[in-house]
Amino acid sequence: MGSHLLVQLSDTHLTTAPRLRAGAEPAAGLAVALAAIERHGLRPDVVLLSGDLTDRGEASCYHELAEALASSSALGGALVVAVPGNHDRRAAMRQHLFAQLERAALPTGSGDEPLNSVAWHGALRVIALDSTIPGEDAGALAPATLDFLTDELARPAGEGTILMLHHPPIDSPIEPMARLGLRAPEAIAEAIAGSDVRLITCGHAHHHCQGALGAIPVLVAPATAYLADPLASVEFQPVAGCGLVRIDVDERGIRASVAPLPAPAWPDRALPA
Ligand SMILES: [Fe+2]
Repeated sequence: MGSHLLVQLSDTHLTTAPRLRAGAEPAAGLAVALAAIERHGLRPDVVLLSGDLTDRGEASCYHELAEALASSSALGGALVVAVPGNHDRRAAMRQHLFAQLERAALPTGSGDEPLNSVAWHGALRVIALDSTIPGEDAGALAPATLDFLTDELARPAGEGTILMLHHPPIDSPIEPMARLGLRAPEAIAEAIAGSDVRLITCGHAHHHCQGALGAIPVLVAPATAYLADPLASVEFQPVAGCGLVRIDVDERGIRASVAPLPAPAWPDRALPA
């Protein structure tokens, strides 16, 4: 049984604009997250990037992310596993992120085809699935992606599998966000039934949430760019904030811990009380 440290960064939303419409400065959020990992002297084996890496799929933003990871003393040597979110562009992500990364789990397909990948750290497996539907904000797994998952799970992993996708298979309590969730989550439940999947981890909602799909725990990571207030049920309300997830896997089991981080300043926006 090995020892594995994974760090998950989600919804970095890097942009060429000075800030997002919500008021956030995504580059500041990413910097806060990277600085926190470095400050604590962590050396993650794997970096999980769970989508919405850029706000509009800009090539320069993928380069910016690749450079930020490469220049991080904590993350520079880590294996990167990434999936697109609804704000990303598949072809641009291939060309301008994956092609720039030193160590990455390379995705299937080409151009605008889904980006699915498998990564191993020792006997621990990460399966990353593309849940995006080009041109839409909601998510779904294409038949070819479900086949990819089923085929991969036919081979067992000695220390089990972590499944990552952008759209959570559980609903956010924020109704507009839930409407943009993953369609037909039961298809994943069926595909992973009886498999060695130990955790499903996602992004998209911008707030921490946890639940289960059948017997498998589901984690929704907070965003690094800005957070959503999960108390606001009927409206998506952005709030300043930042967070990341560390996942520890060893002989004591698997634990996913959410680290709240200091919020990057929103200079032009009065924050909700
Ligand atoms: Fe997002």
